[in-house]
Amino acid sequence: MGLFGKRSKYNQFVAGNNKENPKTLPKDLDFTAKEQYKLIRANLDFTLPEDEKCPVIGITSAIRGEGKSTVSVNLSYVFAEKGSKVLLIDGDLRLPSIARKVNIDSSPGIADLLRGKGAQISEFQSHLLNNWFILPSGDIPPNPSELLGSGRMENILNRFREVFDYIIIDLPPVNLVSDAISISSLISGMIVVIREDYTEKKELEHCFRQLKLSNVNILGCVMNGTKAGNGSYGKYKKYQYYGHS
Ligand SMILES: Nc1ncnc2c1ncn2[C@@H]1O[C@H](COP(=O)(O)OP(=O)(O)OP(=O)(O)O)[C@@H](O)[C@H]1O
Ligand SMILES: [Mg+2]
Repeated sequence: MGLFGKRSKYNQFVAGNNKENPKTLPKDLDFTAKEQYKLIRANLDFTLPEDEKCPVIGITSAIRGEGKSTVSVNLSYVFAEKGSKVLLIDGDLRLPSIARKVNIDSSPGIADLLRGKGAQISEFQSHLLNNWFILPSGDIPPNPSELLGSGRMENILNRFREVFDYIIIDLPPVNLVSDAISISSLISGMIVVIREDYTEKKELEHCFRQLKLSNVNILGCVMNGTKAGNGSYGKYKKYQYYGHS
């Protein structure tokens, strides 16, 4: 399964470049990209435990720049578009980027909630869909790994679980910091984003070794940036989704 179409379409979506109303994203993803995301959504619904009320899906990768945040935004969007009440959390408290990608303020955010600050869920409602909520990073804390794996994080997630249908958390890369591993016991499972012609095999192996050593439930992988070749949309079929082996 796959992700993006032409770079321009892709950039249009994540940049939120509607100058007249910079707080909204462009209304629609590129048709083909959206179809690919819908496939990912369908596969996830199949993979996630049926009886879980609100699955919490972490998105990580081996190294920086593989497309985690982009996948988090787009995937949460297509879940919301289907009618589910969805919360996207920027859990990359070292290099947050969700607020920038969707053109919202980065505070208040999850780091503020973790410090004990109260907030109304309605504050995080997106401008695009009234069932798509986006919780940015907030002010960057000195100890992200501890915070993400903390009892307070567990409590926050449990409260959100009562309100939402899906929660998607954008996380830092596994090979650089322990944050994704720290939060793994609090979430339903992890998606690993792999960028073609970018991630080296040994980096990927290291990433999976770390995840498996920590007994992380790997829901699957998303291949990002597969070449469109001659530009034909058929190439998108090359995108793959791997089950946990
Ligand atoms: N399929 C794609 N085609 C073209 N550009 C892409 C694609 N996916 C991601 N990018 C670009 O690559 C850069 C990194 O993407 P993104 O921020 O989603 O990755 P990330 O894994 O979250 O990075 P980080 O580890 O720094 O958080 C961004 O500039 C984004 O616009
Ligand atoms: Mg990111």
